[in-house]
Amino acid sequence: MCGIVGFTGTRAAAPVLLHGLERLEYRGYDSAGIAVLHDGKIQVEKVSGRIAKLCEKTKDGSNVPGSVGIGHTRWATHGAPTDQNAHPHVSNDGRFAVVHNGIIENYLELRKELIRDGYVFQSETDTETIVHLLELYYDGDVKAAVMKTAARLEGSYALGIVCTDEPDALFAVREASPLILGIGVGENYFASDVTALVSHTKNVIYLEDGEFARLMPDSVTVYDCTGRELQKKVSRVTWSVEAAEKGGYEHFMLKEIMEQPAAVKAALAPRIHDGRIKLDGFEITSEELKDVNKIVITACGSAYYAGCSGRYAIERLCRIPVQVELASELRYADPMVDDHTLVLVISQSGETADTIAALKECRARGAKVIGVVNVVGSTIAKLADHTLYTFAGPEIAVATTKGYTTQLAVLYLFALYISDKLGRIDAESYAALVKELQHLPRKIQQTIDMNWQLPNVASRYSSHSLFFIGRNTDYAVALEGALKMKEISYLHAESYAAGELKHGTIALIEENQPVIAVCCNEALMDKTLSNIVEVKARGAKVLALSFKGNKKIVSQADDVIFIPRAETVFSAALAVVPLQLLAYYAAKEKGCDIDKPKNLAKSVTVE
Ligand code: M6R
Repeated sequence: MCGIVGFTGTRAAAPVLLHGLERLEYRGYDSAGIAVLHDGKIQVEKVSGRIAKLCEKTKDGSNVPGSVGIGHTRWATHGAPTDQNAHPHVSNDGRFAVVHNGIIENYLELRKELIRDGYVFQSETDTETIVHLLELYYDGDVKAAVMKTAARLEGSYALGIVCTDEPDALFAVREASPLILGIGVGENYFASDVTALVSHTKNVIYLEDGEFARLMPDSVTVYDCTGRELQKKVSRVTWSVEAAEKGGYEHFMLKEIMEQPAAVKAALAPRIHDGRIKLDGFEITSEELKDVNKIVITACGSAYYAGCSGRYAIERLCRIPVQVELASELRYADPMVDDHTLVLVISQSGETADTIAALKECRARGAKVIGVVNVVGSTIAKLADHTLYTFAGPEIAVATTKGYTTQLAVLYLFALYISDKLGRIDAESYAALVKELQHLPRKIQQTIDMNWQLPNVASRYSSHSLFFIGRNTDYAVALEGALKMKEISYLHAESYAAGELKHGTIALIEENQPVIAVCCNEALMDKTLSNIVEVKARGAKVLALSFKGNKKIVSQADDVIFIPRAETVFSAALAVVPLQLLAYYAAKEKGCDIDKPKNLAKSVTVE
């Protein structure tokens, strides 16, 4: 969702900006633009559509001279995705250009005021108010104008600003929207996330809300909102450039599916020592735990579905009630959360606006919050009382895969850890489950290897409408499988708890209706088998997903996809993999834009 980049140095800025924008493409966007300072003027180039069009228009940046500039990918909120509404926006006097990620909530009021003062608007965006405010407050001191402007803005914003009167400087401002400064040698950068920076530098400063920075080619100064200079820590990014590239795969999504054995291992291995789980400094005593009367898990999209799987693991192993709540609902639900509630907030990006708001609601009510987050230094990681990183590495495809399975891995670790702390698991079962966890990466690899036939299966089951069914842990997987299918192949897919079919939805089953039945929960196998029989009796074509060696399923389903046998409580981490592949191949056959599905953004930083 909107991406911003900035560069100041001595070489040509435009190619650096375009390259940075390409790195941010995965966030989702519908127009793009750059503004570069040269000879006391700002040259702006922007297009609706893809960055490739902007590269073509600017001849890969070669016809936009200058060594200081800003760039933007816009995901339309206020106003259609047109050239006019694309960023950067320029002040009426041509002195300032601005790029913005976020939403200015009081923009209507500001717009009226600025129009009254004679400012002329070129776009329908909320962002344009910012650039006119800069002009309004400018009296020869850019830093002061930036501060005065920021003080007028309500909402969320990461801003990149250039001004012709400070031709080497970039200004970066952050409030409730991610912004990271990259520290180079003789050149400096900013970007919405580190994937746009890692090919230039691994040294970064994470700006906090209310802070802003002035970047020159050889210096970076960070200020608080009163203009006081701050001493900020420079952090080292561990992600490699290769990790953010396709590495020979046709799509990032396929690469990320294949990376799951390694990613899950990275999430598990550092936390298991001599058969015992240690959670990176997260300590909770048995006494403190006895004071916890419920666990609330909150998240959005796939992270929410990871929470649904996590719930089964925690409830089964710890016998603590777990409530899983959509963050977009919980934030407005006046939630029944207090200092006896332990809250798990799950987010790959750590920047999802609804999840951040839900986290704040829970904290305000006194709950202890644990973040399960992939992106280091992200907002959720900072706001949580303790963060368990998922160590998935950069996830570029909009559809999450390794982000999701590593969340499961962390939730499984958490469940076992708490269960042991509460004395609800005997030593032998604990040891066996820890061992089973350690086998997960290998079994995920086997799952991938066993499913080479999936392109054919996907082609037979691609239909305008698909059902995904399952019970208990399998239902949680069905939810995620259906979401994967919908978001990348645009096929209508719905998931149902198998036992619910009779209560209404079985009426939709007709001749040849594809039904994907997840049957990996041994205890409920016969129950799901009866549901398969029921839908088949009404003409459905059933593709079942079960563990290798399950003969019963072979006799009932039309087709079967196998996974290695695994402990039920952890089976979601295996079962989801063929469903990811199924969605991938269905989307590929339809010729969809797999890594950047329409209407979606990787990181949903606005409500
Ligand atoms: O970054 P987050 O984990 O907070 O993102 C939450 C959802 O937006 C995300 O999982 C979304 O549903 C994915 N596109 C699913 O593949």
